[in-house]
Amino acid sequence: MPTNAASKAVHGHFITIEGIDGAGKSSHIDALTTWFGARGREVLSTREPGGTPLAERLRELFLGEPMDALCEALLVFAARRDHIHQLIVPALRRGCVVICDRFTDATFAYQGSGRGFDVKVLTQLETWVQDGLQPDLTLWLDLPPEVAARRRAAARDADRFERLDLEFFQRVRDGYAQRAAAHAGRIVRIDAAQDVGAVRAQIESVIEERSW
Ligand code: TYD
Repeated sequence: MPTNAASKAVHGHFITIEGIDGAGKSSHIDALTTWFGARGREVLSTREPGGTPLAERLRELFLGEPMDALCEALLVFAARRDHIHQLIVPALRRGCVVICDRFTDATFAYQGSGRGFDVKVLTQLETWVQDGLQPDLTLWLDLPPEVAARRRAAARDADRFERLDLEFFQRVRDGYAQRAAAHAGRIVRIDAAQDVGAVRAQIESVIEERSW
């Protein structure tokens, strides 16, 4: 249960899934949704940028149009503000498990570390937009960029971010590692280079440890 200002009287659990493109988030989010559902929990599975009509429109612009890193940060935090207020906090208040495909750690990793944007500005935006809301648990699916690139090539056409090079994804990975070191209680590293079954088992054991 989050203990911060934005989420007073909140009873649910807020889980975010992170990692570079090609880490395999989607299949693990589906499995986790089924896992909680089988235990009688109401689950809301959502994503960033996105999750509300406004945020989904901002997502299209964010993924489709070239722009500088400040524009990216402002768009993604505008989408996040709407998402938090319209969807995430109400669902947590109902007692849902909210599973979100990416959240603010992605902004620090992609815009901060990947694109070299000022982390102090991101920290300020995080404070304004989130009113203290943080995930209860973040699963960081970590793997080398070369392995992720092979998986992406096999899976789908690339969007604007997925076309970026290996050095970019190495910087994004480093950004996640820095966030994980700074938020060690919240962010748990999962070795996503393992096969799907082993990754799933590792994720389930992290959740079971929490006795939710
Ligand atoms: P992703 O969840 O990977 O979408 P999909 O699985 O449908 O391709 O997210 C889309 C892209 O947005 C991804 O390349 C990372 C990027 N992104 C940022 O750069 N900053 C952010 O804050 C977020 C949430 C995403």
